[in-house]
Amino acid sequence: MISGTLEKAINVQLNAELYSSYLYLSMSAYFSSTHLPGFANWMRVQAREELVHAMKFYDYVIERGGRVLLTTVDAPPLQWDSPQAAFEHVFNHEQKVTGLINDLVTLAVKENDHAATIFLQWYVTEQVEEESSAKKIVEKLKLTGGKGSGLFMLDQELGQRVFTPPQKK
Ligand SMILES: [Fe+2]
Ligand SMILES: [Fe+2]
Repeated sequence: MISGTLEKAINVQLNAELYSSYLYLSMSAYFSSTHLPGFANWMRVQAREELVHAMKFYDYVIERGGRVLLTTVDAPPLQWDSPQAAFEHVFNHEQKVTGLINDLVTLAVKENDHAATIFLQWYVTEQVEEESSAKKIVEKLKLTGGKGSGLFMLDQELGQRVFTPPQKK
């Protein structure tokens, strides 16, 4: 059984993951509107990944005998100044999420909930990947100056990304 405090905190994080999905879907729409289908694809895949993050929390709360309570998901921004601005937003957002996950781990340790601590490790590792992939794209955008053939080639590259559901354990 999960403690009331942890149940509440995971419900909050579930909402944060849904917001992440909504944010990246909004970025995907923005990239489609600026005729960068590869960037739009990358964001669409990322939005699906965030739904997986949310559903992992959803299933976990239920598995531990808790109650999932869904709340309002904030509206995401609709527009960014440039592809680089959008990816800097992703990087900053993911750093914030890493902080939230770390706080959850701290709470699980405080609650002496070892099962939750182990469960949360998956997210700790995932956040390393999330920050690193966003940062790499920011750096590539800086190199290309965010325009011309460099931007075109990066769009081709990001268009290759496919959604792979994470391994069930
Ligand atoms: Fe996430
Ligand atoms: Fe990921």
